[in-house]
Amino acid sequence: MAKPIFVSLLFLSLACSILTPTSAQTCRSQTFTNNRVYQSCNDLSPLSSYLHWNYHSANNSVDIAYKAPPAGSNGWVAWALNPLGSGMLGAQTLFGVMQQDGTAVAYTCPIGRNNYNPTIENQTLSFDVSNLSAEASNGEITIFASIALPSSGSINHVWQAGSSVSGIIAQSHSTTSTANRNSKGSINFATGAGTATSGDSRIKRRNTHGVLNAISWGILMPMGAIIARYMRVFKSADPIWFYLHVACQTSAYIVGVAGWGTGLKLGSESVGIVQNPHRNIGIALFCLGTLQVFALLLRPQKDHKYRFYWNVYHHSVGYTVIILSIINIFQGFDILQPKKTWKNAYIGVIIALGAVAVLLEVITWIVVLKRKPRTSSEKFQHGSHTVNGQGSQHQVV
Ligand SMILES: *[C@@H]1O[C@H](CO)[C@@H](O)[C@H](O)[C@H]1NC(C)=O
Ligand SMILES: *[C@@H]1O[C@H](CO)[C@@H](O)[C@H](O)[C@H]1NC(C)=O
Ligand SMILES: *[C@@H]1O[C@H](CO)[C@@H](O)[C@H](O)[C@H]1NC(C)=O
Repeated sequence: MAKPIFVSLLFLSLACSILTPTSAQTCRSQTFTNNRVYQSCNDLSPLSSYLHWNYHSANNSVDIAYKAPPAGSNGWVAWALNPLGSGMLGAQTLFGVMQQDGTAVAYTCPIGRNNYNPTIENQTLSFDVSNLSAEASNGEITIFASIALPSSGSINHVWQAGSSVSGIIAQSHSTTSTANRNSKGSINFATGAGTATSGDSRIKRRNTHGVLNAISWGILMPMGAIIARYMRVFKSADPIWFYLHVACQTSAYIVGVAGWGTGLKLGSESVGIVQNPHRNIGIALFCLGTLQVFALLLRPQKDHKYRFYWNVYHHSVGYTVIILSIINIFQGFDILQPKKTWKNAYIGVIIALGAVAVLLEVITWIVVLKRKPRTSSEKFQHGSHTVNGQGSQHQVV
């Protein structure tokens, strides 16, 4: 006994320690003048740009610093939120332009929703921008601003750089280079989830992550628990229930680990709030799930004196995993903010599973109470889960 326990604990602690994601973002090492400190940042890889921010949940506002090199020594940089679209059209833009004397000036300009060749003028945006300023150093421009966000959750952003200005007016930028065309994505200032590179592949990965985890941790695992708890009451289902339970939980675990891996990848890409409860619950779930798999291998014989304690352990960890999984799936919905129908569909599945469980609980008790007088000396449960000396007590918990 001692050796396998030791080996599995070793594996478990190794797995849990290696798998803490790290990210090597350049923005982490950047600092700013006037003791400005930002808690979150993201490398925006097309155009070598960096976005830093502090999010204020009380009034849904952000203080941002956007740092990027202009395309030429007398050029400009720009960063925009696009609340109603994506890309340039409709972008509510902050400009930082280089001046002849080597300083930088900032102003704002909304881009029309149907004009790819707009005149860039100093005009107000559709949301409030305060404390707007720009600095130039080492060939880069940094725009500082406080922004009252037009919406919560994920929002599209877009950034750009050009090589020439006329006075303070930014002139048109390259439209042929891949970087100038791909410099857009989405960002969630509250959670840090966002993308700078290829929005499409990231959205695909977010969806994969959500679907894999909702199916495995969120649906298969509770189903496996329902099978174990209710099927074994029926003698005819013995030992089928046991194999179904193992098959269900094992496939849930395998799919769940795959979904968990996509989560780590997503997490390492979005630099935001470091203490993300969703991530921590996810890591705890992986550890507890792995523990359950190893527990199966270490299960004492049914008549072993420790079997009772093993059962208590197995059930408490199992129910903890299910509850944490459901909590974490709802946290995931809040972070990724998919279409409402996904969340509603999952709520529907959970309610259906809950209803089935309640119904089966009632049926089980009716069966048990009816059977009791006739078979008081008989164990109706599957032997492998019967606690010694419990007779026909209902022991499915
Ligand atoms: C929002 O709240 C933060 C911190 O509470 C404050 O510093 C900031 O000025 C507020 N911004 C707006 C636009 O009210
Ligand atoms: C832009 O316009 C605002 C308001 O009219 C003004 O306060 C600000 O100085 C202008 N910025 C520039 C760079 O001209
Ligand atoms: C504007 O900036 C000044 C100095 O940088 C700071 O003291 C003030 O709190 C800022 N105001 C807002 C609304 O962020």
